[in-house]
Amino acid sequence: MNKRLYIHEVATRDGFQIEANFVPTEAKIALIDRLSQTGLAKIEVTSFTSPKAIPNLRDAEDVMRGIRRVEGVEYTVLVPNVKGCERALACEVDEINLVMSASDTHGLANLRMTPEQSLVQFREIIEVTRGSGVFINASLSTTFGCPFEGDVPERRIYELVQRLLEIGVQGITLCDTTGMADPAQVERICREVLNSWPQAIFTAHFHNTRGMGLANVLAGAAAGVRRFDASLGGLGGCPYAPGATGNVCTEDVAHMLELQGYDCGIDIDILLAASEKLQRLVGHEVPGQILKAGRRLERRTTAIVNR
Ligand code: COA
Ligand code: ZN
Repeated sequence: MNKRLYIHEVATRDGFQIEANFVPTEAKIALIDRLSQTGLAKIEVTSFTSPKAIPNLRDAEDVMRGIRRVEGVEYTVLVPNVKGCERALACEVDEINLVMSASDTHGLANLRMTPEQSLVQFREIIEVTRGSGVFINASLSTTFGCPFEGDVPERRIYELVQRLLEIGVQGITLCDTTGMADPAQVERICREVLNSWPQAIFTAHFHNTRGMGLANVLAGAAAGVRRFDASLGGLGGCPYAPGATGNVCTEDVAHMLELQGYDCGIDIDILLAASEKLQRLVGHEVPGQILKAGRRLERRTTAIVNR
């Protein structure tokens, strides 16, 4: 069994988009530069969305142009429409991560587009990117459940995957936008897509809203998924999905996967130091657990034991 897994960091996009306060541009750049040193395979730097819809990421160009890119790390950005694509191409991103929803109601709330309307935008975007060499990924929100509609029929997910690949999308991220996925469902859906489309690159994106995030990562890995999105400190959430909370936490995911014998190529100590700093940056505690508890075999001194 191939035990190499790839972790994609999304804190500066999925994380910062839902924070109460704007994170200063220089601090975003410094954080990304630090994350580039940790062994992450990919960093989702920001999103090229409407500044009215996502005011916290209104500095997308400045951030994308301000970071120091490291060889071997891919820099991706979230893009909902043609305008976002043009802005992203102007910044010479490595990847465009198109975003659409699998459910009509979440699509309309988040993007003002049904899945059908998003697919029309995507066809145009793919035309615009032709010849640029940029990798085209698509993130499919609400794959494992929609906060407005409940379960999204699995056949709809498979149909959307097929249509995305037909129009020229190269990679697909199955997103559990509000933590509705459970491990059995994750294993079933991931096995189905990996078996049906072996040529495509699939990523799994889990939120820990109902405490199933790490179990879902293990279920996805057992099914053969090799790429996982995660967020430093466990920040994150869609501002247009009620009750959304953080992604699975990058350092917790890496810590767990390492114990399971997977190789993620991650330096957990640098991640923990970055996560500690992140708490100060966002002005509140982050949900990550290893930051609080320490690594599994980290020794405590007897002085702090309660008497
Ligand atoms: N970048 C910057 N500005 C954009 C833009 C983009 N990608 N797309 C649209 N705009 C601007 C338009 O220029 C227009 O500006 P104006 O009011 O000054 O003329 C305004 O936004 C409205 O444009 P319109 O095309 O009518 O978009 P909309 O209001 O229907 O919004 C989206 C559609 C997709 C742009 C918007 O809903 C969005 O950005 N959503 C992102 C949601 C998100 O990121 N959620 C979290 C991730 S899952
Ligand atoms: Zn997310």
